[in-house]
Amino acid sequence: MIDANTLKKETEKRLTFAIISHPDAGKTTITEKLLLFGGAIHTAGAVKSSKNTKATTSDFMKMEQERGISISTSVMGFDYGGRRFNLLDTPGHADFSEDTYRGLSAVDSSLMVIDSVKGVEERTRQLCAVCKMRKTPIVTFVNKLDREGKEPIELLDEIEKELAITVTPLTWPIGQGKDFKGVYHVADKTLHLFKGGQTKLPVEVIDIPSIMSDELDSYVGSTFAAKLREEVEMISAVYPPFELDSYLAGTVSPVCFGSALNNFGVGELLDTLIKIAPSPLIKEADTRVVHPDEEQFSGFVFKIHANMNPRHHDRIAFLRVCSGVFERNKLYKHVRSGKTFRSSNPTAFMSQDREIIDQAWPGDIIGLHDTGNLKIGDTLTEGEDIQFKGIPNFAPQIFRTILNADPLKEKQFHKGLNQLAEEGVIQIFTKLHQPNVRILGVVGQLQLEVLQSRLETEYNAECRYEPIDVSLARWINCEDKKKLKAFVTANERKILQDVAGNYVFITDSAWALNRIQELNKEISFYITSEMRN
Ligand code: G4P
Repeated sequence: MIDANTLKKETEKRLTFAIISHPDAGKTTITEKLLLFGGAIHTAGAVKSSKNTKATTSDFMKMEQERGISISTSVMGFDYGGRRFNLLDTPGHADFSEDTYRGLSAVDSSLMVIDSVKGVEERTRQLCAVCKMRKTPIVTFVNKLDREGKEPIELLDEIEKELAITVTPLTWPIGQGKDFKGVYHVADKTLHLFKGGQTKLPVEVIDIPSIMSDELDSYVGSTFAAKLREEVEMISAVYPPFELDSYLAGTVSPVCFGSALNNFGVGELLDTLIKIAPSPLIKEADTRVVHPDEEQFSGFVFKIHANMNPRHHDRIAFLRVCSGVFERNKLYKHVRSGKTFRSSNPTAFMSQDREIIDQAWPGDIIGLHDTGNLKIGDTLTEGEDIQFKGIPNFAPQIFRTILNADPLKEKQFHKGLNQLAEEGVIQIFTKLHQPNVRILGVVGQLQLEVLQSRLETEYNAECRYEPIDVSLARWINCEDKKKLKAFVTANERKILQDVAGNYVFITDSAWALNRIQELNKEISFYITSEMRN
């Protein structure tokens, strides 16, 4: 029996978050520096960037195999400042897929990294949209201030406009590039001085009596001091002061500036997260909301990692604990099948190691060995029939017709295709007017190659793709089922069905989608299978 106080204490300690960014903005560098500051690793270079594997499928498969061995990079746990950090990896590189989107269902907050030279980029836009849909609180880190980048004001403007989120600067940079002097902490009224090529921790922090005092000039020179005074006055007028509630509601993102490569700003970022980032939040299920400090355990699977031994289809399912305590060897209910589920070797991911654990608390991510019973979105409970929301499929951007290339391997082909779809590698749709035709949908091009390669190596099956003139898909619904049916019948050739039987409208351009939406105002179009935008 777990006492309520321990549960509350362990829950409040947890801080489960993900870093979202466009490739090359500095996610790997920041992850590594967070782990270094957090004392979880002791040498740089321990966190591998996957960006070099952009090129080919074989590289990707090799990377996946390596990951099979050191799967711990998927979640990096460490203790710092009295809290347990669970940092979830959201692949942003070659292996970009729905997995990345879904990983965000398992976190309570995000850290968004923006390259000060490049500003807001495509992948950040996509990931930020998913966070906004879930109202996930976001802290923004503007990186690479040691390089000549955009003006900070211009950057914040761009973030607000492009990501439709309000920002509030917690720190303000003084100069940039070779003139980068450090940052001024707006609320603390402290000066954090930057020394080029900094390797020592922490950075030098100076309390200055007032931004108007001459002391400021003595540290950064009078030109930069004058510019800082002017800019701080301006930002105080333009941006709202930091308010915890609006950050937690996901409407305002506090912004810090720094240079991860130079160890500048990352320690402060960690301290900011300790202070403001939420403990495990309430999760929405189909019948009710689930509070983390409820005594009864509940959790959901958000990712399946295939085993790299091609002849055995055992896998690791990643489960996020939502409430109560998960215990090793205890019998739980697998809600979808109604069967019992027991794990004798649940795995936790601390820093770079995996270890078998006896207990896991709300906010924790654990790995469960599984031989094919668990699917993405599945719920485990102590008996209650609930289904967590927020683990949907996302509208794919790339579509192909998939055909079995070897008629003698029909069975293997279907088995492989279905299992890999369950694992979340691809989505399968059928055409309404040709139910035997299978259409694949993916978010990243590489998933197509991965599917082909895995069908061959793991299922001894071969497939062939044919192009299809579709680049946009939206799940559709209408309260009036007759109207939905009429729309589906009228647009039969542009309708697919997903595995759950939901209707999906497909088209080849944003213009065409807009037009059909204009003409059919009673129909709702959604980017996720959960019918949320
Ligand atoms: P990613 O995971 O988001 O893709 O980015 P990653 O950390 O791998 O960083 C991308 C590149 O940006 C790396 O350089 C990295 O060293 C550099 N970088 C990260 N933070 C900073 C910073 O604060 N200032 C500057 N100037 N550069 C930064 P690279 O040349 O691509 O790789 P490497 O050879 O340095 O590893």
